[in-house]
Amino acid sequence: MTDLRPFFDGPTAAATTFSEMAQAMVPSRILVIAYEVRDRILAGEPVAPFTVGDFDPRYFQVPSLLKDYIAEAVAADQTNYPPADGLLELRRAIRDHYQAVLGLDYPVEAVTVASGARPVLYGAYQCLVSPGEKVVTPAPSWNNNNFCQLVGAEHVVVPTRPEDAFMPTAEALGPHLRDARLLVLCSPMNPAGTMMTEAQMRAICDRVLEENARRESTGARPLYVVYDQVYRLLTFGDHQHVTPVGVAPAMARYTLFSDAISKCFAATGLRVGWMVGPPAIMARMKALLTHVGAWAPKPEQLATARLLGDAAAMEAFLGPFRAQIRSRLDLLHGAFEAWAAEGLPVQSIAPQGALYLSVRFDLEGRPGLPDEDAVRRFLLREAGCAIVPFSAFGDTHNRGWVRFSVGAVSEDDIRACLPRLRDALVRTCA
Ligand SMILES: Cc1ncc(COP(=O)(O)O)c(C=O)c1O
Repeated sequence: MTDLRPFFDGPTAAATTFSEMAQAMVPSRILVIAYEVRDRILAGEPVAPFTVGDFDPRYFQVPSLLKDYIAEAVAADQTNYPPADGLLELRRAIRDHYQAVLGLDYPVEAVTVASGARPVLYGAYQCLVSPGEKVVTPAPSWNNNNFCQLVGAEHVVVPTRPEDAFMPTAEALGPHLRDARLLVLCSPMNPAGTMMTEAQMRAICDRVLEENARRESTGARPLYVVYDQVYRLLTFGDHQHVTPVGVAPAMARYTLFSDAISKCFAATGLRVGWMVGPPAIMARMKALLTHVGAWAPKPEQLATARLLGDAAAMEAFLGPFRAQIRSRLDLLHGAFEAWAAEGLPVQSIAPQGALYLSVRFDLEGRPGLPDEDAVRRFLLREAGCAIVPFSAFGDTHNRGWVRFSVGAVSEDDIRACLPRLRDALVRTCA
């Protein structure tokens, strides 16, 4: 046995080994926080992990049909390379599903499959944005800072307000669209758990269409919209999912939908996602994904095609799944509303969609809590309440707001955490 460890010290570990892009990569703050939380849980501390946007399979399992279909596909030796843009069965199933659920009739060439939403999001950035070009996103938003860094884009961050459910307004976006290459929107939204209204969407689409009409007359390259709808089936009450193309069909020329089974079917580890958009862009995406090899596994693709083709099976899963997520979010929101009525420094926005709740703790600046990270650590240490501040989603504007994610907690975890949290808040007001 040759010990190879000595070869890995020294120059190969130095930062200068890396490309400029790799040197500039920053670790995900969400994961850094999540690791700190995991260490506390391993040390036996009572902690409710409201941190990661993932599901704990003890509480949330994928549809059992999906498991069966994957097992059947493996047993049938469906284990070789899938086509680079996805199996035709799955692309057709996605097309049919979008027709049935979104009322949008795309050709099958508009659909590209990959191993989750991340590769297609990254692919959209790579295929559309050259270094130095502008990408406009609202803040808070998920992961766009990292995608911008990876492709060398100039990231223009547009602040949002709680009274707009942290969605960007057309007025706020307007001045930035003139020389932008890409606008990235998401609804239901990570981290806020809120949704874009039809009026908000329509106003934004009007601006995009206006800008593209201007560019068409000058021959300039269009402004595209990436619409991330990975949470689109997780909506609560009267909140309706709206899309750019649904409110303005002409947006089909400029819209790329990113989507996946990850969140809506608790299937984050199965890795099936897709993008739907103009076929010419999808052909380029296929070429990129071929080189990267970011295919979804073939058995998972076959299984997803069968599931998407069965509306009744999907709804049989989604009904109870939504209800379980909603009841966790309602437990939290109900408690926070009651505490706010008592005068405690907390505020939250009623859940609309996804698996998140937006909460504000007005604690920064109180004795011993000089900054946001001190507040986060205080809540973790004193209440075993692990949350992620909006600043981890690029939002430096909405101070005190944090994300509660409920995919990795049980209702009992929440019930155990709430009295600890209340005590901690009461102490800060003493
Ligand atoms: C808004 C949003 N889009 C995409 C993703 C990534 O999805 P996937 O796991 O399919 O890559 C996430 C994951 O947290 C997300 O929150």
